[in-house]
Amino acid sequence: MTLPPTPCLVLDLDALERNIARMGAYAAARGLALRPHAKTHKSRMIAGLQARVGAVGICCATLHEAEQLAGAAPSILLTSPVVTPDKFARIAAFVAGGVDLAVVVDHPNSVPALAAALPSGGRLRVLVDVDPGGGRTGVARAQDAVALASAIAAHDQLTYGGIQHYCGSDQHIPALADRRSAITARNAKLAETIAALSASGLTPQVVTGGGTGTHGIDAEAGLLTELQCGSYIFMDQDYGACELGGAAPFEQALTVHATVVSANHPGFVTLDAGIKAIASDAGSPRVLAGAHPDSRYAFKGDEFGQLDLPDGAERPAIGSRIVLMPSHCDPTVNLHGAYHLMRSGVPEGLWPAQGRGYGGDI
Ligand SMILES: Cc1ncc(COP(=O)(O)O)c(C=O)c1O
Repeated sequence: MTLPPTPCLVLDLDALERNIARMGAYAAARGLALRPHAKTHKSRMIAGLQARVGAVGICCATLHEAEQLAGAAPSILLTSPVVTPDKFARIAAFVAGGVDLAVVVDHPNSVPALAAALPSGGRLRVLVDVDPGGGRTGVARAQDAVALASAIAAHDQLTYGGIQHYCGSDQHIPALADRRSAITARNAKLAETIAALSASGLTPQVVTGGGTGTHGIDAEAGLLTELQCGSYIFMDQDYGACELGGAAPFEQALTVHATVVSANHPGFVTLDAGIKAIASDAGSPRVLAGAHPDSRYAFKGDEFGQLDLPDGAERPAIGSRIVLMPSHCDPTVNLHGAYHLMRSGVPEGLWPAQGRGYGGDI
């Protein structure tokens, strides 16, 4: 089989399977439910592999992801609050179709509006999104969590499903000790919120959150019942630079392959992979193969990248293949329609990333 044309997203199946197994075993050994975040892979095949090693379901960030991945895992938690009638109607369609979907809310107005959209007799599991202090989504105070949980529990078509507490901005703190201090501070408020809920007879049966960066710290802290880790299946340069602990080490499973398309200058060559092929939000990708390891990639527009070579390094020839490690896996996957699969360097076909894109509201 020939190698896929570049630029392309390449997935090392052996590394993927080992990463999935490692996190599955880690969570199971600690009595934690694992609900991996599918925003990382957006793939029915990968959701199925995660379910096979014990994942209770998946998380999705968008309704589009949930619609595309429904049925690939036992259940779905939509981790972003939705607030508009068009989206309530799409949630109602899951309930009508018998899909086990749970959603999060962070405002009391969402409760009656969601319930009103449901088909008669249909039930929906709803969790309270608790802001760990980052100010992105979630209720800000313990008493707001209690009020919202009470409103959910009081509604006859809704089931109060617990709380979500996701510390997004802390996941990538490079040193484990610094990340642990940050999470310990956040957990003081989480413990206070759980206590306030319990005092009102609303003890959360599910406390869901955590990511690849904090999963070991979360397991030690013992407040979460469910882990939402996503990136561990692929890894990327950003997480590669973090001291992870927990189930780590995880292996780099995802790469972007590029081709040298121009080599008319000393000291650098031009590749056919730019901003359309590799997410640029977390910096430049790193060279893994095909050129001197100290070569440095720089984005050079939508379709191109420049590879600067160290002094004295051999210049890769036009047409040669360069393997790059993306700095941020989730948005890189979102730029591609499919994974080109490899096992021990041998191509093994394609998996579509069904949930990619934003889906719009069409
Ligand atoms: C709500 C939520 N949970 C879990 C994750 C997974 O985090 P990670 O990819 O760092 O494991 C994300 C990622 O952005 C997220 O937004």
